[in-house]
Amino acid sequence: MATYNPDVFELHDLEHAKSIILTDEAQVSTHERWISETPYLLAQLQQWCQIEGAAQVLDFGCGIGRVSKALIEQSSAFAWGVDGSQAMRAHAVSHVNSARFAALSPQLLDAATLAG
Ligand SMILES: C[S@@+](CC[C@H](N)C(=O)[O-])C[C@H]1O[C@@H](n2cnc3c(N)ncnc32)[C@H](O)[C@@H]1O
Repeated sequence: MATYNPDVFELHDLEHAKSIILTDEAQVSTHERWISETPYLLAQLQQWCQIEGAAQVLDFGCGIGRVSKALIEQSSAFAWGVDGSQAMRAHAVSHVNSARFAALSPQLLDAATLAG
């Protein structure tokens, strides 16, 4: 049985992190997947959730913030990116590069939500 190993996401090189998030598939590179699948995913998300105005979105397992970045660029939404990997959270802050984005650990999310 396969065992989940969170260390696979502790990647300090941004391009390596991207290649783990969207792996190369037959004939389709990480980069091609990134630019074709991200807008598709965002359109699906908008269809399901109709994110409007200054909505707050929780992007759990945000990685380097691929979805949060696209969402923030297309809307007035705020995004909270949560990721168990410290390296991914650090990438996310610089990749999204927006005052409407913050990255936090699952532990901090728990503390914040359990406190209220
Ligand atoms: C395949 S990547 C996807 C990243 C992003 N959602 C995207 O689509 O670009 C999965 C991410 O989820 C995070 N992750 C996996 N299990 C998690 C957990 N139990 N709690 C928090 N983060 C988790 C990993 O660290 C990794 O950054």
